[in-house]
Amino acid sequence: MLERNMTYDPYSHDPYVQELTAVTNGWMRRARQMFTVAATAALLFGMVATPSRASETQAPTAAPWTPANLRTALTSLPKGDAERGYAVSQQMFCASCHGDQGVAPTQNWPHLAGQKAAYTAKLMLDYRDRRHVNNKGAELMHDIAVMMTPQQIADVSAYYAAQKAPQDDGTPRPVAQLNPEQLVRKGDPSRLLTPCASCHSTRGQGGKLEAPALAGQNPLYFVRTMLEYKNSTRTNDAAHGMRTFAKRLSREEIDALATYYADLPTKR
Ligand code: HEC
Ligand code: HEC
Repeated sequence: MLERNMTYDPYSHDPYVQELTAVTNGWMRRARQMFTVAATAALLFGMVATPSRASETQAPTAAPWTPANLRTALTSLPKGDAERGYAVSQQMFCASCHGDQGVAPTQNWPHLAGQKAAYTAKLMLDYRDRRHVNNKGAELMHDIAVMMTPQQIADVSAYYAAQKAPQDDGTPRPVAQLNPEQLVRKGDPSRLLTPCASCHSTRGQGGKLEAPALAGQNPLYFVRTMLEYKNSTRTNDAAHGMRTFAKRLSREEIDALATYYADLPTKR
């Protein structure tokens, strides 16, 4: 069974999700046990501040991003240092869920390895300021992000950006119903769909500004997040682009795109 209290997944009845979840549940349990033991020990020994629950009730959700105020927020972060970022990733237990080098042990949680620093930093600000708290995992990230200084956010983002992008781990994937290559490279003018590659780059390595890397990303996380954009439960995309595109994609296309990007590292 899915560990609902941790990985809330509104799509758990869905065959694609069930198929992938079965593979990763064992890992998830282990990662969670490791995290619980480590976090309890750290709290006992006073290594980290107790998460401020007050922020949950008092802090209003920050104003939505515009491309302009997002630029200002990102450029006013201090310069990140990857070496210090490694220490942060260990002290703040990022590693216990996202893996030592940013390759997560479960397909339901995102890989951070090789991610663009601007995207990781943006997401940390989104979690911290409650722009993106629409599922249990995101709430958990909120509790972590409120404990971090802007310097720590910049450092940890630099650390993950310096790691090697996730490689295909050979996990069998559901067979895609269609080939999404056309959507990736050419888009679909009849539905006003811009090619994914025009923003995420041809090898899925991420593009300009905060456009994230997608190559090797966990397919379960990919599907979940695309469905959240599609349902407008994830609304932290500054230019409203992903919400718009996801609404125009069918479920079969989303599944196929998830597999395509997960397998992309081997196609390089
Ligand atoms: C207990 C497990 C856990 C810990 C510890 C944890 N994370 Fe996460 N993280 C998650 C989950 C689950 C998600 C997915 C949340 C969602 O759906 O938005 C996530 C999402 C993210 C994302 C969004 C990535 C993307 O591609 O959308 C970033 C960035 C991130 N975490 C960074 C960190 C950093 C940095 C730390 C340490 C300071 C950390 N996380 C600690 C579980 C964890
Ligand atoms: C106009 C530029 C643009 C196009 C075209 C585009 N994206 Fe995006 N995409 C973005 C940006 C910017 C973000 C970050 C949004 C945010 O902050 O939530 C993003 C985020 C994502 C994410 C979330 C990644 C994560 O780790 O959280 C996925 C998945 C994604 N895009 C898939 C796609 C797919 C598949 C296509 C093609 C069908 C596509 N995108 C087309 C700009 C674009």
